[in-house]
Amino acid sequence: MGRWTNPTGASPEVGKEQALTTIDARSPVPKYFQLREILLDLIENELTVDAPVPSERELAARYGLSRMTARQAVEHLVSEGRLYRVQGKGTFVARPKIDMPLRLTSFTEDMRARGLTPGSRDLGRHEIEATVALGRELSVEAGSPVYVIERLRTADGVPMALERSHIPAHLAPDLLTESLVERSLYDLLASYGLVLDRGEQVIEAGIADSNDAGLLGLAPGSAVLLLQRHCWAGSVAVEYAVSTYRADRYQLRASLDIASAAPGGTK
Ligand code: GLP
Repeated sequence: MGRWTNPTGASPEVGKEQALTTIDARSPVPKYFQLREILLDLIENELTVDAPVPSERELAARYGLSRMTARQAVEHLVSEGRLYRVQGKGTFVARPKIDMPLRLTSFTEDMRARGLTPGSRDLGRHEIEATVALGRELSVEAGSPVYVIERLRTADGVPMALERSHIPAHLAPDLLTESLVERSLYDLLASYGLVLDRGEQVIEAGIADSNDAGLLGLAPGSAVLLLQRHCWAGSVAVEYAVSTYRADRYQLRASLDIASAAPGGTK
């Protein structure tokens, strides 16, 4: 059993067993950061999701730190999404974030690939007339009919994202009457011969408003990732989607290539 593992769920006792590591007072690394590393090691190697972490008082006593330093380390990990607090109960290990796919994949496909069960709650579907701006996004004339499909996407029943897809109505005339509760939108589009083969996505940081926060199970003002996606099937613009993803559940991972010298740049 791990050093801090406590099957009773009560706050683990500090000091009874040997600590993972100690704080080096002579190190140039700030003490709160050293404690953050110790806690990260615990989170990754010893504790399970939703397990309690020692209180700030216990951490301060164990590592010979001030309460303020212990709090700083814990707060850092809370803001990184590695820990979460429950008012009056303590601080617990958060579920690890998942990498946002940077490929043209559907939510259904992505969740299944991770061994999670995808789900959808229908938040509304309607037909609108494209404004000039929406028409530009979908390469249709202003005033053209466009379907809007709003869904809450879930993984194993847990809200992950809100997605608002806009699709030119003439491309998939019966789209609004088809059930999407258990079906993938991209599969449905494929049944109309619209096999998506190119996409572009912009991802920005954002703050959830009270409506979106409520649907996503977040406190209003929580951080989210705002996505805008354009997808094409050949030369046909099929989907313009505006989505809000939980920033406490998703992270971005990118591989970095060595920058090649810009043409005409200095050597
Ligand atoms: C992703 C995209 C959405 C797209 C959805 C389709 O989540 N961000 O723009 O609408 O996939 O998912 P599915 O085919 O599972 O309905």
